[in-house]
Amino acid sequence: MPYFSDELIEEVRSRNDIVDVIGGYVRLQKKGSTYFGLCPFHNEKTGSFSVSPNKQMYYCFGCGAGGNVFTFLMQYENYTFGEAMQVLADRAGIELPKQEMTSAQRREADKRTRLLEINKEAARYFYSLLRNPRGANAYNYFKQRELSDETMQKFGLGYSDQYSDDLYRYLRKKGYDDQILKESGLVTIDEVRGGHDKFWNRAMFPIMDVHNKVIGFGGRVMGEGEPKYLNSPETKIFDKSRNLYGLNFARSSRKEQILLCEGYMDVIALHQAGFDNAVASLGTALTSGHANLLKRYTKEVYLTYDSDGAGVKAALRAIPILKEVGITTKVINMRPYKDPDEFIKALGADAYQQRIDQAENSFMFEVRIEEQKHDMQDPEDKTAFYNEIARKLLSFPEELERNNYIEAVAAKYQIGFDNLRRLVNQLGNKAGIVKEQTPLKSGIHENKKKEDGMKQSQKLLLTWLIEHTGLFQIIRPFVTPDDFTEDLYRRVAEVLFAQFEDAGSVNPAKIISMFDNEEEQREVAGLFNAHIHEVETKSDMEKAVRETIIRIKDNSIKYRSDHLDPTDMQGLMKVVEDKRALEQLEKLHISID
Ligand code: UTP
Ligand code: MN
Repeated sequence: MPYFSDELIEEVRSRNDIVDVIGGYVRLQKKGSTYFGLCPFHNEKTGSFSVSPNKQMYYCFGCGAGGNVFTFLMQYENYTFGEAMQVLADRAGIELPKQEMTSAQRREADKRTRLLEINKEAARYFYSLLRNPRGANAYNYFKQRELSDETMQKFGLGYSDQYSDDLYRYLRKKGYDDQILKESGLVTIDEVRGGHDKFWNRAMFPIMDVHNKVIGFGGRVMGEGEPKYLNSPETKIFDKSRNLYGLNFARSSRKEQILLCEGYMDVIALHQAGFDNAVASLGTALTSGHANLLKRYTKEVYLTYDSDGAGVKAALRAIPILKEVGITTKVINMRPYKDPDEFIKALGADAYQQRIDQAENSFMFEVRIEEQKHDMQDPEDKTAFYNEIARKLLSFPEELERNNYIEAVAAKYQIGFDNLRRLVNQLGNKAGIVKEQTPLKSGIHENKKKEDGMKQSQKLLLTWLIEHTGLFQIIRPFVTPDDFTEDLYRRVAEVLFAQFEDAGSVNPAKIISMFDNEEEQREVAGLFNAHIHEVETKSDMEKAVRETIIRIKDNSIKYRSDHLDPTDMQGLMKVVEDKRALEQLEKLHISID
């Protein structure tokens, strides 16, 4: 990714008004100084999503999504930061510095561009053939598979002609030479016989990347024939292990999960039935490249693979790959039908939704499949099954989670929780994995409560500082960023205090840009949009502020004296001084206007 200076980032940010940008995606209504609308990041009917023109931030009181104009596009469009930067710079008419490319890099980039053009031309060609009398068979084929015209259009479905070189001739006429056409994977060049199309007389499925660019094709025989599907080979722009069919649509689904299926037709049938979160791998097994790609869009995947043995096997392979990147998985049962396409054709969307709701936890799925390998009537085989399950249960490092699974398995297979847990622990002790944990002493809980209270106070003060900018001058003699013992809050306070000192005002949206991980961005956005108890009167507010400052200061002094190096005279003096100031503060009257 190109490197952008902080100034440039801030210029791009400040020249894109957040209300305008988000207004292009979400219907916003003004209430007071803030705009509200339905949150695009979770399903709701109430309108908890707020956009503040003053802060140039958005925040959802329902799901906690929040940030500035960059993070909005990164979350909504799933852009990388670089992509969001480019889009917003274009929008504001700001030219971003071009990264210097070597001539080899430039040639490579040009080649990719041309390969994308060729695939796009081919997709257009196939698309128009389908809508031409020459494509009547293919059109009828899709119709017979119950696809609507709208669906055919959405997925750009097409037809490759009976002649074995008409695409080749078409692309040559468009000016592409044999060399680049060969690299596109759409034609083969024979020294003697010339160019030949890879796809002919097939129903065509263009494969798009997440930016809706055609990168390859799948082509199906209409009726019987081998191979059933023919796919573009991997090329410079077509990496099968890093792309998923349908993800260009599924990425902007409002559903939180992604449905992962095996076939092109499954994806299309699911979308047509309203499940706009369905994707499929491209005639290959799921890879960790796919898992990482999915992780950008979801935390949970529902496998909706074929119900035959191969589908079960594929599911068993996919589960750990998804787990590895932190995605949890559930498995949807398609029986008695073969795949989602046939299921929906037979029973419809509501029945499919029921299957989603009944999807099986992936661990329980694995256990069930394991059970089928054992003869539960045979004591020895039954013991082997329990041992295998105990071994699997050890893969949960967290005791609580492990116990929950032990409970679920014990209940389902009527083993008895204690028996199964003992077995797991024995195995774990042998392997040196599990140690019985002593229960927490109650003191620890209390300490935690106190800490949470302190976190709240620090959060509150930061929120107030942003809401009532006059407060800064008042608290400045007493509080410094170092008094914020919460690491994230201290970092925010440092920037906030510096902004007050330099500019006399705050720029919350700019602060967001300084955090580059999404969790932190969310937390900072939440910080700036905390629900503040509306304090009744001015004097109540003043009292609340004073008490909060005292609490923070008191905590900070305690923290420092606990961590003081006994030889650090300066630190010691500062603590003594701060204690005296704190006494002053207790007498002080704070006034807010
Ligand atoms: P399936 O054999 O399950 O077919 O292949 P399907 O998706 O149900 O297809 P229809 O409903 O008969 O049209 C699943 C996927 O495996 C890849 C394709 O991506 C297909 O969608 N595949 C299958 C191939 O690449 N080549 C083949 O010959 C068969
Ligand atoms: Mn099928």
